[in-house]
Order: sequence, then structure tokens, then C-alpha cells
Amino acid sequence: MTHAAPVEKVMTKNWANPGQNTLEGYQRSGGYTALKTALEWAPAKVIDEVKKSNLRGRGGAGFPTGLKWSFVPKDNPKPKYLAINADESEPGTAKDRFILENDPHMLLEGIAIACWALGAHTCYIYARGEFKYPSAVLDKAIAEAYAAGIFGKKLLGKDFELNVYQVRGAGAYICGEETALLESLEGKKGWPRLKPPFPAVVGLFGCPTVVNNVETIASLPPIINQGAEWFAKLGTEKSGGTRLVTLSGCVNRPGTYEVGMHTSLRDLIYADEFGQGLPAGRMVKAVIPGGSSAPVLNAAELDTKLEFEAFKPMQSMAGSGGVIVMDDTCCMVRCLWRVARFYAEESCGQCTPCREGQPWMARLLRKIEEGLGDMDDLKTLMNVAASIAPWPPIGLGNTICALGDAGALPVQSFVTKFKDDFVKHIENKGCPHGDKPWGHFGDFV
Ligand SMILES: Cc1cc2nc3c(=O)[nH]c(=O)nc-3n(C[C@H](O)[C@H](O)[C@H](O)COP(=O)(O)O)c2cc1C
Repeated sequence: MTHAAPVEKVMTKNWANPGQNTLEGYQRSGGYTALKTALEWAPAKVIDEVKKSNLRGRGGAGFPTGLKWSFVPKDNPKPKYLAINADESEPGTAKDRFILENDPHMLLEGIAIACWALGAHTCYIYARGEFKYPSAVLDKAIAEAYAAGIFGKKLLGKDFELNVYQVRGAGAYICGEETALLESLEGKKGWPRLKPPFPAVVGLFGCPTVVNNVETIASLPPIINQGAEWFAKLGTEKSGGTRLVTLSGCVNRPGTYEVGMHTSLRDLIYADEFGQGLPAGRMVKAVIPGGSSAPVLNAAELDTKLEFEAFKPMQSMAGSGGVIVMDDTCCMVRCLWRVARFYAEESCGQCTPCREGQPWMARLLRKIEEGLGDMDDLKTLMNVAASIAPWPPIGLGNTICALGDAGALPVQSFVTKFKDDFVKHIENKGCPHGDKPWGHFGDFV
């Protein structure tokens, strides 16, 4: 029996309450009181409170939310928009869908608070194309909010019009990148834009736009209700609150859990409250800590806390909270090949290093996995990855958006940390784990 330090639930606190995903159920557990409070405050005070809470974006980059909001120019006469990123396509990540399914009004109340703070009268929720059920629950919740006079001409009776629309994507990972998302919302192909200008200044339809993740915005009602200080204190020095993580792979109890920022990867994997360890006789070999694009960690790095700053010394990132565990039976070449195929498939094709490099890396990995590779292939693999985005450190990408980095960082971190696995494939002319060559995956992989 192993236990993690207790975590005060914030996001999942009411999920088990009957009818929580309806307006009536949400109001029974105190819903929309935070909006009432926020509407009594000046918008600047709401932004200040969010800054003090140390809330950081839960979409991947961990950018401080209040700071992002403060980049929206106050003197720009154009309309301002809020866009909610519900695309959730990073492999290993499944948390936003559960907010939409279990507590959609928590997001809607957060949206109303954010729009009041930003002076935005329109919000678009961009939902992943495959979100059939979560989107249906959300649509129902939006309709309830309109019928109850929360949204519409007046915001909860206040003279402030707010309209909220859900827009379904068509299933492209790239449309989770904030500027591709804006292009897609405008009805165009989801190709990322060059930055600057950043969306806060030139965003949707050329107007100032804040793009935030579902979990980020759903955190606002508890922040307003219980105070920024309370929220900040729940977390660590620079990351307020708790967070949702998705644990998958070789663990006994995979699932989506609310963890503290102080919870370690080890606790997440082994504690009774969370993953309950690995099947008997198995050991952790590798862990991807923040969705498949986050550089992989080895078994010696499990004491890292699940907060945004903690992964920096390891040249990795907390990302979107998708924790993928690989045990000692896993072939690192095959795992990486699988990851590489995803990014090759999802590259939007706009930038040459990414469009050509991702499938090239996937091809090389297949060659090595199937025992046909040599040491020059390994060198080429690392060169191609470095030409897309050198690592370390994170953030040196040569492409318009970070999808390039997302495919290059796993390659560089897997090969650096588990080089023996790759060399054995080359020396033994085959997979030491006995994996058989796979079928045909298309022209490039
Ligand atoms: C290729 C790519 C895919 C992304 N996919 C998502 C996504 O599915 N959901 C998300 O919230 N952010 C995603 N992001 C991050 C967004 O660009 C953006 O940083 C985020 O929505 C901002 O919200 P936050 O500040 O609340 O985290 C992605 C980024 C990249 C480069």
C-alpha cells in the first residue's frame, strides 16, 4: 500500500454529484455564484485575481493565464474574442473531455467570468471533431444557460451581452495549435500563423483574441469563490491549484486523476489513489510526462513533481498532462516509431523541415526496428530531428508552430536516454524484444 499526500479536489470535486452536468445540478452545488461575484467587480480586479492565483495554462505550454489576458490591448476599438481550446488531440491526453462530460457549466461559468474580465462579447468553443458525446453534453448546457438568462442579451441580468458557440473541428491535431485553431474557426484550412503578432493582439478575424484551454477556464469559478490566495497555496510557488492528468500505459489502474502540483510522477504511478503500480514483476523503464511530444524520462527521474517548473532541469515538460508509462518489456524503438508515425501523419505540410522530416524520421525508425538500419541511419535520424528543432533546450524549433518540435523532441530524447536499445537493434539486425515486423502503414511509414 502506498499513499500520496492528500489532494484537495478542485476540478473534480462535484463530478460524482447526481445531475452535476445539468444546470440544476450545477446550481445545487453552488454553480454561478462565482459569476455573480465577478460581475460585482471591475474587470481589472478579476484579471488581478487570476494573476494572483498563479493559474497557468493547462493546454501544454503552462503560460500564466492572467499575464496572457493582460496582453489584450484595452484601447483597441475592435471586438474582442475568447476562444476555448477543446481540441484535446495530444496522444495520451484525456482530461478536457471529462470536464465537458461531467461538469460543462463549470467551463461555461469560467467563460462568462473570462469574457467579463476581457470585455469579450463572443466566445467560440473549438471542440475536437471526434467529441461526439462531450459535445452533445456541452450543447445541452449552452442551451440551458441561454434559457436561464445566463447568456444572451444580458449576462446573468447584467447589461453585458454574451454569446457562446460550440464549433466542432474535423479531427486534425494541428487545429489544437492556437493560430491554426483561429484559421479553422474562420473557415479556412488549419495552417498555423507566424507569430508575432500574437492572438491577444491580432487574433480571430484580425481582432484581439484570448485562446485558453478548457481546464484553464474551468478553474476560474473556484478561484473567484475561494480566492486567489487559496488557489495559489494549493500549488507550488509558481503553479497554482491542482491539475488533471491522464495516466496510461503499463500501470494497473490507468485513468484521469486530479493531482496536486506537489504530487510526484512516482506517486501518480504507484499510489493506491492513482495508478496502483505495475503488474507483478514489471519495472518502469520510461515515462512520457506531458503528452507524447514531451521528452521522455527514465526510471531515475520519477521523483519529479507534476508541476510546470519541475520538468525544466530534465529538459522535458508537464505539457498537457498525458503521462504514458512504459515498462521493461517495452521496445523503445517501436514506441518511438509509433509516436513518429503520429506526427508524420499530422504535420500540416506548411513548413519543409516538418513536412519532410517527420515522415523521414518515421521511415528511419521503421528501418531500425525491422533490423535493416545501420549506425548512419541513427546519425541521420538525430540530424533530421535537430534540423526541425534542436534539443536541448526546448523551444528552438525551426518551424512556424511547435508541431515540428512535438515530433523532433521525442526522437532526440528517446535516442539520447535509451541509446542502447537502438544500437542493439542495429547490431542484432532485429528487435531484441522479438517484435515482428508490422504490416504496411502507407507510403512513408
Ligand atoms: C501542434 C499543437 C497542438 C496543440 N493542441 C492543443 C490542444 O489540443 N488543446 C490545447 O488546449 N492546447 C493545445 N496546444 C496549445 C495551444 O497552442 C495553446 O497554447 C493553448 O490552447 C493555450 O491555452 P492555455 O494558455 O490555457 O494553455 C497545441 C499546440 C500545438 C503546437
